[in-house]
Amino acid sequence: MFLKRIQIEKFRVLENVYFEFKQKFTPTLFPLGSLNGGGKSTLLQLVFTLLHCSFYKERHQYLVNLLANFPADAEITTLAQFDINHNDEDFCLEFIVSANHYDGQDFNVFLDVDEIEEKLEEHKKWQAEYSSLLELEKDMSSSKRVTPLLETQIRRQHHRELSMMTRVQNATLDDYKSVVRDLLNSYEEKINNNSSLDSLLETEKHKKSQLLESLKRNGMLYITHFDNDRVLLCKTTADIDILTQISNRVYLAAPSTQVFLFLSDEQKQHIFSIESDYSECISEAKTDLENFFTYDFASSGLIIKAFEKARDKDFENALEFEDYDGKHLKKLKNELNSFLYEKTITVDKKLSKVIFKMGNAELLPEDLSHGELKKLSIYIWLKYHAIDDALVLMDEIEIALHPDWQYEIVHELQEWSKNNQFILATHSYGLCEALTPSHVIELEPKLIKESIRV
Ligand SMILES: Nc1ncnc2c1ncn2[C@@H]1O[C@H](COP(=O)(O)OP(=O)(O)OP(=O)(O)O)[C@@H](O)[C@H]1O
Ligand SMILES: [Mg+2]
Repeated sequence: MFLKRIQIEKFRVLENVYFEFKQKFTPTLFPLGSLNGGGKSTLLQLVFTLLHCSFYKERHQYLVNLLANFPADAEITTLAQFDINHNDEDFCLEFIVSANHYDGQDFNVFLDVDEIEEKLEEHKKWQAEYSSLLELEKDMSSSKRVTPLLETQIRRQHHRELSMMTRVQNATLDDYKSVVRDLLNSYEEKINNNSSLDSLLETEKHKKSQLLESLKRNGMLYITHFDNDRVLLCKTTADIDILTQISNRVYLAAPSTQVFLFLSDEQKQHIFSIESDYSECISEAKTDLENFFTYDFASSGLIIKAFEKARDKDFENALEFEDYDGKHLKKLKNELNSFLYEKTITVDKKLSKVIFKMGNAELLPEDLSHGELKKLSIYIWLKYHAIDDALVLMDEIEIALHPDWQYEIVHELQEWSKNNQFILATHSYGLCEALTPSHVIELEPKLIKESIRV
């Protein structure tokens, strides 16, 4: 995929941002510059969160976090617009912040349907528990005492009241019967109270489908509520299949000391706290957001997995073409060896251990320098996740890299993953020099303007 255009009307420090990216440029790698606080990280995180999180319900919480504190001035506002080329077709995605109603209909119907469906699930659970207790009551009525079989059936019910009874010495069958009857009565009450849920669901679902129809007529998708009064919509010609494909092709890499706007306000506070651990919040986000990466050192396990992948690819080729050339393994070894000066990296024959060598001396991963580890982690991240035909947003890639390496990383990124588009938020002059001036995009330097005014 290729992001051809970004337009952001207003989001935090970003105002009237408009960037075009030329697909025919080589390399497809675009440095993004500005002064400190110019909005580079804000921009990368906004693009990532909107594109990666909008089309998966389980990622919506991160959009809600991002849009918390969004000012409530205009009723309908275009937040951001993206032109994306995917599989040679152009799509426009316009993200709109809207009030809670549309075409005379109320977006709360989405929440209402979810709530009733949840209640119905609970109701189904009660029904199952009720039936099982009814069965037990039947078995009890045909029994004369608390037999071992009956006792097992009682334990299987997982009811606190029944398990308490098993601890009462000499509890009689009548004692058990009475507890079961009480439980059945309470279930009957709950179930009867919910008897009108099905028809309520039908009514709300009908309203929801009417609203979906109106949205569809205008090429709109409802994404999520982000507070009580406002929702996020997406206007697009792409269908949901295309949108999920696009979602999964957007990546964000950043230093772990960064404030991430898609974390909750509470999680963001952890960055300033000595007692609490911000890295735990980041790890949690990483489990939910597959394509989010911080430049932490890739474990030796990942390097081994990259070798395994290369070995398996060579093996597949050998089976297909009846000729083993070990091409993928050789490429992986060469690429890794070329950026660790005077050091070699490989794995043992059983693919169980990573070995770094300097001359004849064997080194452990922890013997590598900060910059070496950083480069290695980026390389392994790209390789291990097989990031290809993707939009890769990278923040401050230059930290810990010597100016020569900042210059070289541009070509290395292209070499390691040829079909990606990179947007690199950076302060590195060396990195920009490795490209033509037309590759470089810049956010307006608002701080300079203000200091001139003063
Ligand atoms: N709600 C807001 N509205 C406007 N500006 C805000 C808001 N919240 C934060 N800001 C400011 O927006 C700026 C965002 O900076 P951001 O991290 O995106 O900049 P950056 O270009 O990545 O800077 P750096 O190069 O230092 O990393 C900060 O100066 C921040 O104080
Ligand atoms: Mg930044």
